Amino acid sequence: MLHTENSKRKIIMTCALPYANGPIHLGHMLEHIEADIYARFQKMCGHECIFLCADDTHGTPIMIKARELGVKPEDYVAQSFKDHTRDFADFAIGFDHYGSTHSEENKKLSEVFYERLKAKGHIHKKPIEQLYCNHDKMFLPDRFVKGTCPKCKSPGQYGDSCDVCASTYSPSDLINPGCSICGTPPVKKESDHIFFKLNNFKEELKKWLPHHTAPEVSKKMMEWFNEDLRDWDISRDEPYFGFQIPGEPGKYFYVWVDAPMGYVSAAQQYLSKQGRELSEFWGKDSKTECYHFIGKDIVYFHTLFWPALLQGADFRTPTAVNVHGHVMVNGEKMSKSKGTFINARTYLNHLDPQFLRYYYATKINGSVDDMDLNLDDFQSRVNSDLVGKIVNLGSRGAQMLNKKFGSSLYDLDPSTEILKELQSKQAQIHKHYDERDFAKATTLIRELADSVNKYFDEKAPWKSTDEAEVKRVLTTTLNAFRILAIYLKPVLPMLATKVSELLKEPEYQWTDAQKILTNQPINAYVHLVQRVDADKVKSMIEEQKAQFAAQEAAKPKKAAAQAAAPAADAPVGVIGIDDFNKVDLRVATVLEAEAIPEADKLLKFKVEVEPGQTRQIISGIKLAYDPATLIGRQILIVANLAPRKMKFGMSEGMILCAGEGGSDLFVLSPDKGAKTGQKVK
Ligand code: MSP
Ligand code: ZN
Repeated sequence: MLHTENSKRKIIMTCALPYANGPIHLGHMLEHIEADIYARFQKMCGHECIFLCADDTHGTPIMIKARELGVKPEDYVAQSFKDHTRDFADFAIGFDHYGSTHSEENKKLSEVFYERLKAKGHIHKKPIEQLYCNHDKMFLPDRFVKGTCPKCKSPGQYGDSCDVCASTYSPSDLINPGCSICGTPPVKKESDHIFFKLNNFKEELKKWLPHHTAPEVSKKMMEWFNEDLRDWDISRDEPYFGFQIPGEPGKYFYVWVDAPMGYVSAAQQYLSKQGRELSEFWGKDSKTECYHFIGKDIVYFHTLFWPALLQGADFRTPTAVNVHGHVMVNGEKMSKSKGTFINARTYLNHLDPQFLRYYYATKINGSVDDMDLNLDDFQSRVNSDLVGKIVNLGSRGAQMLNKKFGSSLYDLDPSTEILKELQSKQAQIHKHYDERDFAKATTLIRELADSVNKYFDEKAPWKSTDEAEVKRVLTTTLNAFRILAIYLKPVLPMLATKVSELLKEPEYQWTDAQKILTNQPINAYVHLVQRVDADKVKSMIEEQKAQFAAQEAAKPKKAAAQAAAPAADAPVGVIGIDDFNKVDLRVATVLEAEAIPEADKLLKFKVEVEPGQTRQIISGIKLAYDPATLIGRQILIVANLAPRKMKFGMSEGMILCAGEGGSDLFVLSPDKGAKTGQKVK
């Protein structure tokens, strides 16, 4: 598509919605940094660009994770939302709105899609047979069945594929299959599922695809059209964390149905705050541009199912689906045990977010190839290119002007064309950004910085005694640096803000690069960007490794838990050892105990649960005990009970007692010799 410089474009764009059951990591950050650079660039150019994302909150893994943690899924996804949005904000990802698929708007929208598709005959129902766990009373998605691989006989493999020999199969082919939650052998069970007739859209999709994604992507996708497209199963049986399907009791939309609708409902939330209509961007006839940024693992969903759902329900389809490859670290897949599965927060604990933004930008070129985050290369590119070549120009120029020449700019150096050279490259840099080839954009900017450094070194203003000339050289250098900072603003918005503040200017727009500043005061120099310290990279990896080791240690031993699961025919109420192991029982010591005057039955405790670690527990034993008699006593507590907010404060555990209640209660204690923090097994 061609755009003239002056026509104001209207763009809506999204990143894939991160799952709510895990932290944001540097793999996600590739996508968000890529999209953010694009969005910031378009906004700087004066276009309207609405950049949206949301958390993807539904599905079995999230439901199970919340259950494991003993919290409601709603509360669990609310916590993820806080963590995710904080991570993105700290990386300067400038979303216009960040939503959640667990919203009223998204629920309504899913129903609208469904009703429209149904009315047009794109929906039908048929029974299917699936594995079911009699113990957990639920159907098991493939990933929730584990057993021995039928081909290579490796134990502990998932129901869809073997991690050892890479063969794929169906869960019922596994030898000794077991529910991955409780270990019980699953049984086959039939139930009705609701399907979307994807094949109704085959011809449309075949025409649509080649024009709306990169040739390397569409070529691969076109292979699907050699045969009919299979119906897509869009329902899941309860229990499920998601939206109920209207008119189908006990059935829920599969998470991948309401997830992409999150793109639309996020837009709706954003637009309605401004009193605008959703149809402006998502209506069937909308002429606005719409881009999805996604990873190569979810192309199928975004180039087949999603455009078909949109067409079927009378919404517009995206202008383009922009696909990137996966982040590798030091040439290998990100690895939890090696500490290279780096969480965004872990990175931020050690390093400046601008380093990663810059490094990724130098490598993003719009292709689907995987991208290597080589940590040595990362350090040297940031230190030698970003800091050494670009930022140093500003710090040297501004500091000399500050120190020696009254914090002011003077005339330009008439002997050089360097600023004209910088400005003449603007259209080319514009084109690279617009084509999402940030590698080319940053290369060109770095080459320009090389020219400026050459100029600066030749003039060697630190040696010169001609004061008037030195002022002109510094003024010219600082103008050059200013232009480079404007060119880099989509990548390094924080740097650009600091530069505009240094030069007493408002936030930069793209056209500001054609301006020149002379004979005007500047502010005092503040530090712009530090160098990467190799020790910090090391300590980041160490922290990530330690986090992983701690998680592993906290996991119950899977094999043992499976062996100890109750038999499928065990009577109701009998639990396996794994159920028992879920309860973290511990010896604790009462440090403080006091009555809550406003409550008839409650005492408030401060207990030590591990040496040096205390918690507050509120317990209903006031009628049976004088609190003073409990201070100093060792007791037993449930340490992993979800914290509960009570009227008189948080209660973070439970004190074990025998008895009927009221005054008939007996606090349990270990024998002499037990230590605070010991587990009860
Ligand atoms: N929830 C789905 C997307 C729903 S979109 C309607 C999902 N979530 S995800 O958290 O697994 O991934 C979110 C995005 O991050 C995807 O585009 C995915 O490709 C990308 N990445 C996740 N790991 C990645 C790397 N290691 N490298 C690059 N991108 C990666 O899929
Ligand atoms: Zn089970």
